[in-house]
Amino acid sequence: MQTYDSLCSLMRSYTRYIRKMMTGNGLFYPIVGIVSCVAFIYMSFGDLRVTYHREPELTFVTRNGTQFMVDGRPFYINGWNSFWLMDHSAEEDRRPRVRAMLEAGAKMGLTVCRAWAFNDGGYNALQVSPGQFDERVFKALDHVIAEARQHGVRLLLSIVNNLKAYGGKTQYVKWAWEEGIGLSSSNDSFFFDPTIRRYFKNYVKTLLTRKNTITGIEYRNDPSIFGWELMNEPRCVSDPSGDTLQEWIEEMSAFVKSIDKNHLLTVGLEGFYGPTNPKRSTMNPENWASILGTDFIRNSKVQHIDFASVHIYPDHWFQHQTFEEKVTFVSKWMLSHIEDGQHELSKPVFFTEYGFSNLNKDFQPSQRDRFYKSILDIIYKSAKRKRAGAGALVWQFFVEEMEEFNDDFGIVPWERPSTYRYFTDQSCRLARLRGIHRQNQILRELCLQTEN
Ligand SMILES: *[C@@H]1O[C@H](CO)[C@@H](O)[C@H](O)[C@H]1NC(C)=O
Ligand SMILES: *[C@@H]1O[C@H](CO)[C@@H](O)[C@H](O)[C@H]1NC(C)=O
Repeated sequence: MQTYDSLCSLMRSYTRYIRKMMTGNGLFYPIVGIVSCVAFIYMSFGDLRVTYHREPELTFVTRNGTQFMVDGRPFYINGWNSFWLMDHSAEEDRRPRVRAMLEAGAKMGLTVCRAWAFNDGGYNALQVSPGQFDERVFKALDHVIAEARQHGVRLLLSIVNNLKAYGGKTQYVKWAWEEGIGLSSSNDSFFFDPTIRRYFKNYVKTLLTRKNTITGIEYRNDPSIFGWELMNEPRCVSDPSGDTLQEWIEEMSAFVKSIDKNHLLTVGLEGFYGPTNPKRSTMNPENWASILGTDFIRNSKVQHIDFASVHIYPDHWFQHQTFEEKVTFVSKWMLSHIEDGQHELSKPVFFTEYGFSNLNKDFQPSQRDRFYKSILDIIYKSAKRKRAGAGALVWQFFVEEMEEFNDDFGIVPWERPSTYRYFTDQSCRLARLRGIHRQNQILRELCLQTEN
């Protein structure tokens, strides 16, 4: 289908040209273009291939100082979390939700989706036991990546969980313990036990060198992967000095880069300040956040770490704050980290999870809208000034009838038009900073519509 591809793209350029000549025309000429293109294929072969559609061309996301770059221009991100993609992809009756979600996200102009690339032990495990993989589940991950590619969405993939969901570090520790070679049953031995480090490295290597059975592309060579995250929300409370986690990050980031130099890498931190920055620690929600063994600036400075990650959960972090106080905190929290990205790290700062809980006393959906809006506004302002705030991913999106996978943060974005609109507006104003004509077709159409 390559030839038709170029032919059709030629015709599309032609219709773009016509449209330029005749300003004010939204959809008519592109439709003429597509119809004549399809008609051409039909006439040549008499065989209308309904499955035909063009995959958007993707290139690797790179970094220049504090900015993500795509095709030589800064790239600011409006995106979302759907941790469940691989899990759903592994079951035939649930698999359609993967496409539905990625298609819907793309339609909203969202460009990056964060998801789990792990499931250790347990139900639908990808890694059944150390070094043992379930090919059925690996194929499910292949499918997720292939679908993302089809929809022009890039994936930020997390490699292991600090928490117990889908196995996590606790499962690794249990494996080592069961084999009688683990040094300690503390779940923080994940970070320092040599056997467990070996397990983890083996997992990393298998994942990065996996050849996708659908696209034929090794994961490490696939630009539809935005980047890798070492761990979801690492904490190492057994060593509040931060040294243990720091050494782990240094070793594992170098290991990832020894296999894959194409992709960006982050730690997966929540963003709490640690002992090396007593002044910054006053920015932490409360004192407990300074003694979790994590250290935002020190950890993010590691040479092989390309960008910093930060989460935003005032509902979890405070017991007795009003809505207004939380919004004020979020603003300070974000600006403080963006400033660190700018001056301390010279790296992009990516807010990879933000969420507003519906368990709050007197919860109203309009508060959630305002909460989202305040975050999206800060990203936009940073982007407009070419600062280090590189984007944000909402926690979390579902499609309908997935309540059992939800927590108190998830939404089906099209169920509330005002919320939906905040996201599409953000997609378009960020897209305008790059130039609408440089965007993929979905974004061009979305943003031309919202202009009218
Ligand atoms: C990288 O950023 C610097 C400083 O902002 C800028 O001068 C330079 O042109 C950028 N390089 C590219 C390739 O965009
Ligand atoms: C880790 O171990 C501690 C102490 O045994 C326990 O309180 C905590 O829940 C465990 N955390 C995880 C994520 O397993």
